[in-house]
Amino acid sequence: MSATLEIRGVTRRFGKNTAVNDVSISIPQGQMVGVIGRSGAGKSTLLRMINRLIDPSHGSIFFDGAEVSQLRGSPLRRWQRDCAMIFQQFNLVPRLDVLTNVLLGRLNSRPTLMSMLNIFNHDERIDAIRALDRLDIAQTALQRAGTLSGGQQQRVAIARALMQKPKIILADEPIASLDPRNAQIVMDSLKSINEQQGITVITNLHTLDTARAYCRRIIGVAAGRVVFDGTPDQLTAQVARDIYGADGLKEAFSEAITSTSLGAPKAAVAALSPSPALAS
Ligand SMILES: Nc1ncnc2c1ncn2[C@@H]1O[C@H](COP(=O)(O)OP(=O)(O)OP(=O)(O)O)[C@@H](O)[C@H]1O
Ligand SMILES: [Mg+2]
Repeated sequence: MSATLEIRGVTRRFGKNTAVNDVSISIPQGQMVGVIGRSGAGKSTLLRMINRLIDPSHGSIFFDGAEVSQLRGSPLRRWQRDCAMIFQQFNLVPRLDVLTNVLLGRLNSRPTLMSMLNIFNHDERIDAIRALDRLDIAQTALQRAGTLSGGQQQRVAIARALMQKPKIILADEPIASLDPRNAQIVMDSLKSINEQQGITVITNLHTLDTARAYCRRIIGVAAGRVVFDGTPDQLTAQVARDIYGADGLKEAFSEAITSTSLGAPKAAVAALSPSPALAS
């Protein structure tokens, strides 16, 4: 099955502020897409509209031919299962054990926590352990989630997302709170899930070099508009300037520098250096 996510002419306003401005993007099933841009560019708003945490002011979103932006009731809940969300702050329940946190991925629309806790069956538990094992953290299954490191917590969040059997994973700055080593582990996990399971991954990233290292398609957003949509090779110094603005380059590069230790191609970072000699 090959389903495409189609964003058509989508605008989102908050009062007088236009957070997302007439965006049209088509994402075939199985792509790994990095969305980059300055703080306030509209990256989170765009992701949240895809999974219907918020609705567009104008325009529509389609998946596999169905209009996502019109779904109500159980079709809407099904869609929200189909596109699992991962957040910068992990959003686990810290006092519950890891296994239970992962199992919660199966039940995102039940009334109370306690009613959920005793209805997980044996197969679901096995699935949850498998998902944890896939992320190399099965040994933490009985630990309280709040006691894990940030990198481990984000992997639990990914395992929980996998329990939804999603078609799309929407990750909003999944590595922004992690040190470089854990950031690399989390990005590697997302990439292998994308490649091995064909799950589309759309991830907001602050860091230019992380997007270049992991995403074959990069979408650059500035002031709510798409100003770049292409491959890492096409993302030249001039394009970086369009995305980040002349005065925002430092933002892009200081972050790039922090995460160069991720093993991103150094040449790529150098090619984007704001130094006039290199920026051609
Ligand atoms: N719920 C909201 N109410 C009012 N304004 C909002 C709301 N959500 C976002 N905005 C505004 O919309 C614009 C885009 O915000 P958004 O969070 O999408 O940016 P972003 O690219 O994700 O930024 P960051 O990199 O800092 O996360 C900003 O000006 C923001 O203040
Ligand atoms: Mg954001």
